[in-house]
Amino acid sequence: MHTTIDQFIAGIPKAELHLHIEGTFEPELMFEIAHRNQLKLKYATVQELKAAYQFNNLQEFLDIYYSGANVLMEEQDFYDLTWAYLQKIHSQKVVHTEIFFDPQTHTLRGVPFNKVISGIHRALKDGENILGISSKLIVSILRHLSEEAAFETLEQALKYKDWISAVGLDSSEKGHPPSKFERVFEKARKEGLLVVAHAGEEGPPEYVWEALDILKVSRIDHGNRSLEDAQLVEELVRRKMPLTVCPLSNLQLKVVQELTSHPILEMLEKGMVATVNSDDPAYFGGYINENYLALAQALNLSKEQITQLAKNSFQASFLEEDEKLRMIERVDDYFQENNI
Ligand code: ADE
Ligand code: ZN
Repeated sequence: MHTTIDQFIAGIPKAELHLHIEGTFEPELMFEIAHRNQLKLKYATVQELKAAYQFNNLQEFLDIYYSGANVLMEEQDFYDLTWAYLQKIHSQKVVHTEIFFDPQTHTLRGVPFNKVISGIHRALKDGENILGISSKLIVSILRHLSEEAAFETLEQALKYKDWISAVGLDSSEKGHPPSKFERVFEKARKEGLLVVAHAGEEGPPEYVWEALDILKVSRIDHGNRSLEDAQLVEELVRRKMPLTVCPLSNLQLKVVQELTSHPILEMLEKGMVATVNSDDPAYFGGYINENYLALAQALNLSKEQITQLAKNSFQASFLEEDEKLRMIERVDDYFQENNI
C-alpha cells in the first residue's frame, strides 16, 4: 500500500533536540495547575489566552511564555508538565528527546531548584520505563540575566550532575552575545558537561561564531542567520556542527515570513547537519510531526529528505555512538519499507 507523506512522517522514528519544557505548557493544563495553586492567570479563559499567542518577534513571545511558567510551583507541577509532553511525543514516534529547562524562571520566584529538576527527572524516568523514550536534560541559562546569576544557576545544577548532560543558553538574544557567558561555559565544560547555545535566531552571524569559538558548543540552536556568512557556513559544514532548527517557531516569531522561504533545504543542500524540532510547541501550533509536515508541504520535501532529517536528529544527539548508529539503521530500514 502507498505510504502518504503524512503517514511517512507520522511513523518515522525521530529524536527531538530543541525543546523547552516550559514551552510545552498547554493552556488547559496551565489553567488546571493555576487553579490548584490558587493563582490567577492574566486571562479569564483558554480562548482568551490562546488569542494572545500572536507574536511579532522573540521578545513578545518570551513575555507571555515566562508569565505562563509562573504558575508552576510544586514538584508535581513539573512532573505533570513533562509527562504530558512525553505522552504527546510518544504518539509521534519520538524515541529520544533532549529537553531544556530554564531554572531561573522558577528560582527567581522562590521555587527551589530541587523541586523543578526532581519533577522533570521523575517524569523522564517514567518516560523511559513506561514509554521507552530515552532522554537527556539540558539546563538552560537565561542570557538577559547577569553572568553572576548564571554562575549561581550552574552551581545549583552541578549538585545534580548525574541528571544533566549539557548547559544551554536561551532567552532574548539581541544585545546578549554568547561571549557574555564565556567563563560560565568554561566552568561547565571543565565539570564535564557538554554545552549548546541559541545563536543566529534573531542575532547576527557573529553570535554563531562566538558560540563556536568562545563557548565551544556541541550544537547551535536555531542558527538560521548563519546563512548570511559564507565563511561561517563553510566552517559549520567542516565541523559537522548540528543546527537544531525550529520551523513553526521561526514562522510564529517572524524569523521567516513564510514557510515557503524557510532555509532548511538550503542548509541540507550546503551540507549542514540541520534537524527539525518544535522549540515551544504549545505556543507555536505544533509538536515535532506538525513541524515536519508543515515543512514537507511548504517545500515539497521528498521521503529521502525527510529521512535525512530524521537521521540527522540521531546523528546530532548526545546518545552514545553505538546507539546513534543503531537508531540511524532503524531509520534506514523504515525508509526501505515505506518508500512506496
Ligand atoms: N526560550 C524558549 N524558546 C526560545 C527561543 N525560541 N529562543 C530563545 N529563547 C527561548
Ligand atoms: Zn529554543
